[in-house]
Amino acid sequence: MKYGIETISMYVPRYGMDLRVLSEARNVDYKKYQQGIGQEFMAVPSPDEDVVTMGANAAQQAIEGIDTNSIRTVIFATESGVDQSKSAAIYVHKLLNLPENCRTVEMKQACCSSTSAVHFALATVALKPDQKVLVIASDIARYGLESAGEPTQGAGAVAMIISAHPRIMEIDSDVGYFTKDVMDFWRPNYLDEALVDGKYSIKVYMDALDHCWKNYQETTDAHFNDFHHFCYHLPFSRMGTKAHLHLARHQKASLASKELQQQIEPSLRYNRITGNAYTASLYVGLLSLLDSKELNLTNKRVGFFSYGSGCMGAFFGGTVLPGYDRFLNTSERVAWLRDRKHLSYDEYVKFYNHALPQNGHSYRTSRNRTGSFRLAGVENHQRIYESVPANVGAASHSEKALAAAPVS
Ligand code: CAA
Repeated sequence: MKYGIETISMYVPRYGMDLRVLSEARNVDYKKYQQGIGQEFMAVPSPDEDVVTMGANAAQQAIEGIDTNSIRTVIFATESGVDQSKSAAIYVHKLLNLPENCRTVEMKQACCSSTSAVHFALATVALKPDQKVLVIASDIARYGLESAGEPTQGAGAVAMIISAHPRIMEIDSDVGYFTKDVMDFWRPNYLDEALVDGKYSIKVYMDALDHCWKNYQETTDAHFNDFHHFCYHLPFSRMGTKAHLHLARHQKASLASKELQQQIEPSLRYNRITGNAYTASLYVGLLSLLDSKELNLTNKRVGFFSYGSGCMGAFFGGTVLPGYDRFLNTSERVAWLRDRKHLSYDEYVKFYNHALPQNGHSYRTSRNRTGSFRLAGVENHQRIYESVPANVGAASHSEKALAAAPVS
């Protein structure tokens, strides 16, 4: 029996900023962003979006055509959760009107919990092949204004139905793991921005890759050349290139650098124009690869490296299934990314500085361009979510109204 991804979809905010604008504001050579870290545009969530609304928007597409009565588990992976107790999965469960007899849970281990969610989901469907699991990865990557991490910010969500009837990708059960207690990147409860030791985090990422690959090889006897393409966790796109060249060098792969680049480049395209989305980032990379129209990926093997600071890593493989491209909404995704509103620097700072009241008093968020769900506000310490009627949603919202909308 095959287990893997039956459907996959993505949501990114309808706003973003061209990094040329940031480079001007920060007086940094744009080439540092574009070539040095490999980023050109970053997704910016509006004040009425959070990981719940982004996750629900991605999941709404992933469950299209799926009998929701078969979804018995929803796993929500995030490191920008909205509550210390209640799982984001419950909010999504309600917004999508999923059946009552369902297990809902949130998972955390930095950017890597999405991969553990996928593997827990695979184990669930292997035990109960008539059930499906909805896995959601949703995050807002936020660093300090003027910090080194600022140009790597981004946001987005990926949702997948994991089942015993995969149509996109079969995922292997073998995984190479690595865990070590390090402080490369973390976010204490009292901070909205992550703390990061940037250079150290890159070193630890590479160490974790080496250990995971070694453990994977010990488990499977796999070789570098068994894989046609690779997807890496992408805190910024150049990290994927660096990681791939590093692994190839360590494996003494005999491929020319152009061939190595072809193994990785298709998975980097979306990250370059969305930025980091923590838990979702690896799977945004997978969608970027799958949406590459010039490639026929049928039966191609893909190697995945998932990394979560703190730190944990996982290396595993999957095989793209025949007809996969019929189950992807590639043109809609490309159009969505193309049509995003470009923020000016001042608009970006306004969105960045928006914060919900810390006292839980009644508060209404300004209405901005969103997907089908938005955060309407807060009442009595409770977040209020709402569906956006189709004629009020993204398509009909005027840019003039946006410019006038209060964001604080
Ligand atoms: N033209 C072209 N390239 C230029 C340039 C220019 N004018 N100026 C600089 N560069 C190059 C540099 O040579 C460097 O290239 P190499 O990596 O090949 O040496 C690259 O641009 C970056 O320059 P710096 O190292 O000087 O950049 P920085 O100190 O400003 O910070 C960073 C880079 C550490 C990645 C920072 O963006 C950061 O802290 N990011 C957040 C942390 C992060 O993403 N860590 C990754 C691993 S942890 C993880 O993966 C989990 C996660 O999601 C966060």
